[in-house]
Amino acid sequence: MANHTPLGVYVHWPYCARICPYCDFNIYKNKALDAARWAEMLTRDLELMAARTPNRKLTSLYFGGGTPSLAPLDVIDAVICTCERLWGFEPGPEITIEANPTDAEQSHFEALAAAGVNRLSLGVQSLRDDALAFLGRDHDAASARRAIETAQRTFKRTTFDLIYARPGQTLSAWRDELGEALNFGVGHLSLYQLTIEPGTAFAKAVAAGRWAPATEDQCADQFDLAQEMTADAGLPAYEISNHAAQDARSRHNLIYWNYHDYIGVGPGAHGRLSIDGRRLATEAAKTPADYLSGGADRYVTEVLDETAQLVERLTMGLRLTDGVTLYADDYFYADERRTERLHALIDDGLVTLDCGRLRATVNGRRVLNAVLYELLR
Ligand SMILES: C[S@@+](CC[C@H](N)C(=O)[O-])C[C@H]1O[C@@H](n2cnc3c(N)ncnc32)[C@H](O)[C@@H]1O
Repeated sequence: MANHTPLGVYVHWPYCARICPYCDFNIYKNKALDAARWAEMLTRDLELMAARTPNRKLTSLYFGGGTPSLAPLDVIDAVICTCERLWGFEPGPEITIEANPTDAEQSHFEALAAAGVNRLSLGVQSLRDDALAFLGRDHDAASARRAIETAQRTFKRTTFDLIYARPGQTLSAWRDELGEALNFGVGHLSLYQLTIEPGTAFAKAVAAGRWAPATEDQCADQFDLAQEMTADAGLPAYEISNHAAQDARSRHNLIYWNYHDYIGVGPGAHGRLSIDGRRLATEAAKTPADYLSGGADRYVTEVLDETAQLVERLTMGLRLTDGVTLYADDYFYADERRTERLHALIDDGLVTLDCGRLRATVNGRRVLNAVLYELLR
């Protein structure tokens, strides 16, 4: 019997032209590569995953990275065709690729669109040259603007990422930059507060005292401004960092946040599958070399118990302004003390529970990690 619960495929492309000083994603410097081998490996893994998810169609396909806009078109094409052959897509599928402004040639974008990509996620990061230099980006603000316009001309849907709460960034400067971003009229924006990730060049610079990250107050003020300005522009926040008109929300990322099933292929990609009443977590070999080795042990699969599932479901779901459903027989209620802590959080105005829907309030979303700790400890 057909199972129509949302199912997405995430494809991780691990290469970038340069490693940005703030980034701790699973990425490697771009180099000459064997496109045929990549297409073969990704196709083989998709076939493996399709055998585990019969009678389902795909809601979405997402090429993430790294910089998948650098991937050979043959590989992108092979993956899209393989997904069509193995599962087929639900009506109106969402096929997204992440791209850097440096790869925004009209012809390249048109080729991606011709292959089936209908949503482009552009890693703009900032519309200010000094900030782009600080973030170690290989594009300037002018080329970012051109890339956004090229994407808007080529794809049904365009979104771009901005990093804010940068050291020395003032509230009025953020207001100007965000105002300019909203003026492009895209239906979706991802606004990420700069985080100092362990092991990155930025972490070393901060540890050496070369500069200090934005303060909590500066972060909170800029977060609040982003909530206000995007809502006024008709792109209210639907997730902690994501803002969109209702019909422009990322269907693929909503699969993660609503804890639905997704398949992860490519180096280090994660997956979550519901099979025979069990919840499975899959993880692919991390390095390109191990991944391309083709060994049977390239994927690790783990059965998630109820506690692990609850932690993941709430951690992802409470990022959404719509929150997460707590069912009457929910494992959440298995621990009475947890229910008591829930009511304390409600009294503190950090979460609400309405018709079985648990939501973090605006104040709760500012301190979401603390709320989650309280709910799940
Ligand atoms: C997988 S990355 C996108 C990669 C794409 N190649 C790029 O650089 O544009 C996804 C997004 O995460 C955000 N990001 C990555 N590291 C971050 C950090 N340390 N702090 C805040 N945002 C970060 C950036 O906005 C980036 O566009």
